[in-house]
Amino acid sequence: MGSIAWSGKDVLSILDFSREDLETLFETADDFLKRPGSVPKTLADRIVATAFFEPSTRTRLSFSTAALKLGAKVIDLSPDVSSVLKGESLSDTIRMLQSYSDLIVMRHPSEGAALLASEVSDVPIVNGGDGSQHHPSQAMLDLYTIRRLKGRVDGLRYAVVGDTRYARTAASFLYGLAKYKPASVYLVSPEGLRMRDEVKNSIRKLGLRTEELDTLEPVLGKVDVIYMNRIQKERFPDPNEYEKVKGSYRITKSLLSGAGDAIVLHPLPRINELAYDVDDLPNAAYMEQARLGVPVRMALLHLVMGGGAR
Ligand code: NCD
Repeated sequence: MGSIAWSGKDVLSILDFSREDLETLFETADDFLKRPGSVPKTLADRIVATAFFEPSTRTRLSFSTAALKLGAKVIDLSPDVSSVLKGESLSDTIRMLQSYSDLIVMRHPSEGAALLASEVSDVPIVNGGDGSQHHPSQAMLDLYTIRRLKGRVDGLRYAVVGDTRYARTAASFLYGLAKYKPASVYLVSPEGLRMRDEVKNSIRKLGLRTEELDTLEPVLGKVDVIYMNRIQKERFPDPNEYEKVKGSYRITKSLLSGAGDAIVLHPLPRINELAYDVDDLPNAAYMEQARLGVPVRMALLHLVMGGGAR
């Protein structure tokens, strides 16, 4: 029940999923966490391919872990030692992988790469990040973490902090949040890292209202969730622009003394925007967030590969 929307589907953007689809995913992830002994081998005899054309620790390994836990075998394309180095095109690479596997999880620096892959592939494509655009499974696990730690997503007050311009995690999180009814959403960034108009326009159309701020201090103590983002150095078209904004925001233990019981999320990796002394605070939720990547990605793979809602 309820998984028809997921079965066989490409997962390119969280925008393609309804709130009900997300709830099905979250309930399935809850079930996997609650009854680890009853996790079905939905992917037995199936092969999942991972193809990451950009660095990744959590996304690639948590998808692989999730696939293995569901009984799949996993093959991995390493672009630095494959024919990609000889100049093979993305579409040829994907054509090969789809003939070897039953589902492909991919990450690529170009926006739209996962969409292109979905057009040449007969097996489902799961987008593990395309440029600054989408990172749907990250947004799903972010919402799931909030739901578990705060009991709900609706009615809360959110601050999305940092590189809201280039971080696909920030854009995808807002696209996901637009399916819910948050009480308020603050976008906190220096001027040069403001959210792109294209993202602002689409969330506005979806009815999500946001307010832009330069610093977190005015809303600390008023927000329930602080979503930090790394400055996306690799995506700046001009290194001088990066130099202007690098180190322009950072949260520390002392700053958070006024944060009440707000939870701090971060997709990780952190560089220096999130001090290590925050780790000891009860507010720090990012390690739990990373851990929950496994059950959420298990639920995603299970539903896409035709497993029923749990
Ligand atoms: C993020 C990404 O790749 O977009 N990492 C992740 O998947 N957890 C965030 C980042 O690199 O800043």
